[in-house]
Amino acid sequence: MSLADPPQPTTAFAYLPMEAGPYRLAMGLMALKPERWIEIDRNYARDMAEKRRLLETRHGTVFAALPEAAVASRELLARLTDHLLAVFPGRFRRSAEVIEALETGERHRLGAALHPLDFAGRLVQEDLCLMQPGPEGYRLTAASLCFPTRWRLAEKLGKPMARIHTPVPFYADKLERPVDRFFERLKPDKPVWRLNWSLTDDPELHQPTGHSRPDVNLGIEPGNVGHRVFLRVERQTLVRLPDSGAICFGIRIYQNPLSDLEGDPATAGRLAAAVRALPDEVLFYKSVKPFQAPLLTYLDRLAAAGA
Ligand code: HEM
Repeated sequence: MSLADPPQPTTAFAYLPMEAGPYRLAMGLMALKPERWIEIDRNYARDMAEKRRLLETRHGTVFAALPEAAVASRELLARLTDHLLAVFPGRFRRSAEVIEALETGERHRLGAALHPLDFAGRLVQEDLCLMQPGPEGYRLTAASLCFPTRWRLAEKLGKPMARIHTPVPFYADKLERPVDRFFERLKPDKPVWRLNWSLTDDPELHQPTGHSRPDVNLGIEPGNVGHRVFLRVERQTLVRLPDSGAICFGIRIYQNPLSDLEGDPATAGRLAAAVRALPDEVLFYKSVKPFQAPLLTYLDRLAAAGA
């Protein structure tokens, strides 16, 4: 185990961020130990193969960069490779201009024609976005985004935080100002992280669509919720790059079928309570409505098994 391996969870889930109690939309930022910037787990080879496939078959959908992101992208790649070699010495090797990922045997040549952010995205399971100051606050200037949770890069590129988040219920009222202020003040030596969770009926890592889905019959019933519905957790990191001043927003996806909750009545009960606490707007935005009733029946049954 290296310094930065994810914590060894006591369940199949790497993170279980659902909170007990009333719904509360908050930034939820926590201090990030620099050595924990990147997480690599047993799905590394699987996830990197999926990234490679997406980058080969739909490059324009999963990668985009404005010209102004060039300097920050070079800085990010340099810092990321230094980080990987220092924190995961058993996983990466550098010889002259080649970075080799030892598990997959993939060799990446520095200085190749690849955009440096595209290069960076091919080394880690995280998706990587760059945020840079603009007239309306920090805006998305580039991303290697293979595993979006229900958004399209082309629709957000170049937009400031407030406009990126327009569809998110309560963001404008509760989060816009604190997030903008936080971005102004983020210090390079004080990176942070946060968690976001969703429930989805799509097992794919690449999910460019699906928020605010109308209440249609998806064929999900209490008897099949366990393998039809997934808990999708995003581990998000915010790291200021000291030279360019850009902010790197990293997004790491952990996704498990709800059947992984079987035998864990306390967590099933916590998830049921968190779903019940979601305001209607959020249930609709998160597209939980189409399977809310069978989901709760299933979770209540799992929770009751521990009573
Ligand atoms: C402190 C930083 C941030 C906070 C507190 C925040 C908060 C949120 C929240 C609460 C949601 C709704 C998630 C859900 O209910 O499933 C969301 C969605 C989203 N966030 Fe953020 N976010 C942050 C940073 C960022 C950054 C840096 C980006 C840059 C790409 C970003 C892009 C998005 C996108 C694209 C969505 C989906 C929007 C849509 O549905 O069209 N967020 N964010």
